[in-house]
Amino acid sequence: MQHATLDDIEQLAWQCLAEGAGPGLSPFTMWQLATAGLDGAPQARTVVLRGADRALRQVIFHTDLRSVKVAELRREPRLSMVACDLPNYRQIRLEGRATVHTDDAVARTAWSAGRPHTLILYQTPYAPGTPMSAPELAHVPDDADPALGYANFAVVTVDLSRIEYLDISPGAHRRVAMDLSGTNVVSQWIAP
Ligand SMILES: Cc1cc2nc3c(=O)[nH]c(=O)nc-3n(C[C@H](O)[C@H](O)[C@H](O)COP(=O)(O)O)c2cc1C
Repeated sequence: MQHATLDDIEQLAWQCLAEGAGPGLSPFTMWQLATAGLDGAPQARTVVLRGADRALRQVIFHTDLRSVKVAELRREPRLSMVACDLPNYRQIRLEGRATVHTDDAVARTAWSAGRPHTLILYQTPYAPGTPMSAPELAHVPDDADPALGYANFAVVTVDLSRIEYLDISPGAHRRVAMDLSGTNVVSQWIAP
């Protein structure tokens, strides 16, 4: 896109998010999620993008309710996420505020749409991060009932306040900040 407008970039950013949340692997499937740790130190880890809704200005990921990130987000809901499309020299950064959903309409819908091999992960008896004497202890038997994991399942919806799109392709450097905190989205070219 040689002469892209701010609207084109906004459209492109949401297209990347939709592809990331869609079936199959895209450069925007895996995100690094940064939170404020319980001691104030930053914490980052990978999560899979599970939803992106332009009208609601929201993205979604799933997690284990027992994980440290849930405690962190309940204490400080503001978060940052970043993903990189390495072959295309592109990066998208998100800022927003998390809401943790458990056993509500959002969680139930996501759980019933989940694939068994994903849902089974939530059945592990050990909370993520629990010290173990051997890795096999975390193994969930293949014939375990996936419904058992529901109590540990959480959906995190993120109300976005900012999207930043950066393209450092040779000869076409561009960076756009989209402010989603007001009624209208305000986009602005910024220095890469
Ligand atoms: C490829 C990949 C995808 C992952 N996807 C998720 C995910 O969607 N949700 C999640 O909670 N953890 C996911 N994880 C694990 C997290 O990166 C992290 O190790 C775990 O959630 C514990 O994080 P916490 O202790 O900071 O809460 C993924 C890890 C990898 C390597």
